[in-house]
Amino acid sequence: MKEIVQLIKKGRVVAFCGAGMSAESGIPTFRGEGGLWSRYDPNVYVTASGIRSLFSDYPEKLRDFIIECYQIMLDTKPNQAHYGLAELEKRGYLVGIITQNIDDFHHQAGSKEVAQVHGNAYEFNCPGCGFSTRKTRQQWKGFIARLKRADEKDEIKNALLEFLGKCPRCKDMLQSSIVLFGQSLPESEIEKSYGYLDQAKLILCIGTSGVVYPAASLPLYAKERGATLVTINPEWSSLEAASELIYRKTAVDFFKNLSLHF
Ligand code: OAD
Repeated sequence: MKEIVQLIKKGRVVAFCGAGMSAESGIPTFRGEGGLWSRYDPNVYVTASGIRSLFSDYPEKLRDFIIECYQIMLDTKPNQAHYGLAELEKRGYLVGIITQNIDDFHHQAGSKEVAQVHGNAYEFNCPGCGFSTRKTRQQWKGFIARLKRADEKDEIKNALLEFLGKCPRCKDMLQSSIVLFGQSLPESEIEKSYGYLDQAKLILCIGTSGVVYPAASLPLYAKERGATLVTINPEWSSLEAASELIYRKTAVDFFKNLSLHF
């Protein structure tokens, strides 16, 4: 760990995170064994057209998917790796976190500089005027409880529409900020990401397979500008090829070891 401790202490660190970051909180990854995409086809559940047809013809499938995803997020909390990154920011070593995760755990752990390139499960935007709002965990808990009681197709549809709600400014239906397959990444979060990467000397790639683009190109952008890439992952990931240092550890193990040196 000596080498990485020295690099981190030089500062200008950016973390690029994926689902593995939250695995030890209890949230399954997408592509691992038993991962979400082995049970739900993302081309159906995570595309605008797929969701539209589920809503219209099989709202009970959409209900079950939403309940499964949100119940896990509501029942779990940030782990030592999230808190470790928040601490590095507090001490002035970390510029910011670029996360592909939607679980909000970095904010919940106290990180301030976070670019959420795939959106946030609790945030909603108006496609018409850009208005943005956030539902609390408590509101989600109430909604999930309501969805669990909803059996009839119309009951499920009404619950979904009412919970999403309308923009208070232009009355368009609000949309989840979660980035669906085929959608472009949110401009504000991408700008924020490049702002971090332009300052970066060290990129910690934590718990990501690095196969989903354009997000996976972000650490490579920093590498081209001279940053050192480090991969932290118990298994092989595609960012390893570009990495100078590889830690075959879980995110929590890595931060447990790191904390001994700070
Ligand atoms: P993946 O499921 O593709 O990859 C998770 C990575 O975490 C794998 O490389 C695992 O080896 C690693 N991993 C598992 N447990 C870990 C642990 N305890 N500590 C550290 N690493 C661990 O998830 P992502 O790379 O995040 O996009 O996937 C990227 C995007 O694909 C997601 O944001 C999502 C998905 O489709 C959208 O939904 C738009």
